[in-house]
Amino acid sequence: MMSTFDEIFSTFRIGSLELRNRIVCPPLVQCRPITSAEGVAWYRRLAAGGASVVIVEATGIPGIGAELTVETLGPLVAAIHEQGAAAAIQLFPIPFGSEADPNTLSVADIDGIVEQYALAATICRDAGFDGVEPHGAHGYLINQFFMPDKNARTDEYGGSLEDRCRFGVRIVERIKAATGDDLLIFYRHTPVGEAYGIDDSLEMARRLVAAGVGVLDISPAMGERTAELAAPFKEALDVPVIAVGGMDDPAAAREAIRDGRCDLVAVGRQLIADAEWPDKVRTGRTDEIITCTECNECFDDLGDWKPVGCSQWDGDPVAPFVR
Ligand SMILES: Cc1cc2nc3c(=O)[nH]c(=O)nc-3n(C[C@H](O)[C@H](O)[C@H](O)COP(=O)(O)O)c2cc1C
Repeated sequence: MMSTFDEIFSTFRIGSLELRNRIVCPPLVQCRPITSAEGVAWYRRLAAGGASVVIVEATGIPGIGAELTVETLGPLVAAIHEQGAAAAIQLFPIPFGSEADPNTLSVADIDGIVEQYALAATICRDAGFDGVEPHGAHGYLINQFFMPDKNARTDEYGGSLEDRCRFGVRIVERIKAATGDDLLIFYRHTPVGEAYGIDDSLEMARRLVAAGVGVLDISPAMGERTAELAAPFKEALDVPVIAVGGMDDPAAAREAIRDGRCDLVAVGRQLIADAEWPDKVRTGRTDEIITCTECNECFDDLGDWKPVGCSQWDGDPVAPFVR
């Protein structure tokens, strides 16, 4: 059946990567080990539903997170690729859930994190991932370095805008130096914060792109539904831009792509509710969609650190993803 949402289902090329459509599954922590049978099944389901890129959830870099190896990541990457999606993984600089403070890190600590990012990226590349994404958003550590109200450092990592950008930029530079053109570097950034605006973020983005970022993933705070915040990045920079947040209305997603506000849309909670959302929209089976009600039960599960599920699964504890 023809889709009335052709813009969403047009292919898109990023370097050597040919994407089957414009729908990205953003990083979504689901509280099962990503390399376990259940974790792999979860990601297979997300890829099988039709998204063109699956970004595996925030995952600790070596030394602080689960030990990632080429061998353990291989089946995860294969499960995503076998379903026709590109595979990326978000890399997180601290143990998930722990507090981090940019002001307490020594320069040696920072150098250590930067090196672990490079190591993580090479492991991910060797495991077959197409891309990695430093998590620079949502008020976590890298984002905090950027925030003038959180970063009180007086060395080269704090103070001026250039210095507040340095931590994220160095991570990207090191990943690029370690992996060259083998790996696409996504970068997730929150475009506006309490103490910074879009102009500062555009400057950050320019520096990130110069350092090697190939895709900007513009992620406002949860609940903000706006491709408008992605648009300035699309206008100012010559790299693909992902808009995320409430993009699960196919008409809104289509308009955002058609109007040139973004190249790709990431659909989060709706893909937890129904990973087949892309294929159902593409084939006109919208009446079959298990609709996300934005009740945020998935987010509450994450808060309780229990396997993420969905209130729309009719209480099925086994969850559709293992069927
Ligand atoms: C259960 C859950 C886990 C999430 N995990 C991550 C994560 O690992 N990294 C991240 O950057 N954002 C994470 N997010 C945010 C999503 O990637 C996305 O930005 C957000 O859900 C907004 O998109 P949506 O309106 O389509 O759901 C998570 C969100 C939820 C609900």
